[in-house]
Amino acid sequence: MTGLSDSFQRPINYLRISVTDRCNLRCIYCMPPGGVQLMSHDDILSYEEIYTIARAAAELGIDKLRLTGGEPLVRSGLPELVEMLSRIETINDISLTTNGTLLKRYAAELKAAGLQRVNVSLDTLKADRFELITRSGGSLGQVLEGIEAAREAGLEPVKLNVVVMSGINDDELLDFADKTIAEEWHVRFIELMPLAGEAAPAGGFVSAADMKRRLELLGELEPCLPSIGNGPAKYFRLAQAKGTIGFITPVSEHFCFNCNRLRLTADGKLRPCLLSDYEVDLKTPLRSGISQAGLKESIEEAVANKPRQHQMAEGYVPRERPFFQVGG
Ligand code: 5AD
Ligand code: SF4
Repeated sequence: MTGLSDSFQRPINYLRISVTDRCNLRCIYCMPPGGVQLMSHDDILSYEEIYTIARAAAELGIDKLRLTGGEPLVRSGLPELVEMLSRIETINDISLTTNGTLLKRYAAELKAAGLQRVNVSLDTLKADRFELITRSGGSLGQVLEGIEAAREAGLEPVKLNVVVMSGINDDELLDFADKTIAEEWHVRFIELMPLAGEAAPAGGFVSAADMKRRLELLGELEPCLPSIGNGPAKYFRLAQAKGTIGFITPVSEHFCFNCNRLRLTADGKLRPCLLSDYEVDLKTPLRSGISQAGLKESIEEAVANKPRQHQMAEGYVPRERPFFQVGG
């Protein structure tokens, strides 16, 4: 068989690349309130280094890439990286996860560089609440304009990620769902995961089953196929709706059994699982002149050690890196 697979016969064809740990927002579920220790610039992989790793991964069978952060668009010249990655022939899908604040400025350039589509984090439709959740001076208006710009540039389908927190934004479930009726909104409700190193979560946990029960007030949710991709979300549609409603259940129902992904941190560590602290250092060997074959072996080592599943339900959460370093 060609391609990569791990020790549980899961095909691995998807690499998420965190290009920076920096972000212009500080969302309550992602960043600790006391601020964060940022990586030094020297520790962060150059675009050339990211390209080298992606090419080795592609030779092993990775054919989908996603750029994440922190906020990937705060790193200067991101379209340049997209352009480099899109030159790798066997990569057939490049996408971006962004908070949307800088999307208006970059959407057209990203599309021209070869980006296919974007996922935008949007946890509220209320301007004042946006400031509370993102602990920032960023504005909801910017994000909504960014989403529009992405659509106009053809970065479609645009998927919207909503982390649902009780007492914070769970009263907006129906408003988000309502948006999917008249417009082609692809909303994905995400269960809140505990932040690494934090005892108390940012808001209360709401299970996807609970969200679904509440949404059924609007009518029946008919199961449907994803508009694109084969990620962990399960999709539904309200009768006659143009858009879709997805649920991502990292906590209540793990989807590890068909996990196809690897993650590269901005400082060059390859992580086979978001929720385990195991990682393989690629940066040090890369900077000491490792061969392409050696690099491929290191990637294979990470894949071989991909854990079977996470242990969040048993109360175990990884301690070492918060999400802004791993890219969600
Ligand atoms: N729980 C769930 N999702 C999270 N993300 C970041 N932190 C968390 C968390 N604690 C995801 C969100 C966000 C993306 C960047 O990472 O989907 O939109
Ligand atoms: Fe930034 Fe995204 Fe984390 Fe919010 S969730 S602080 S936008 S990296």
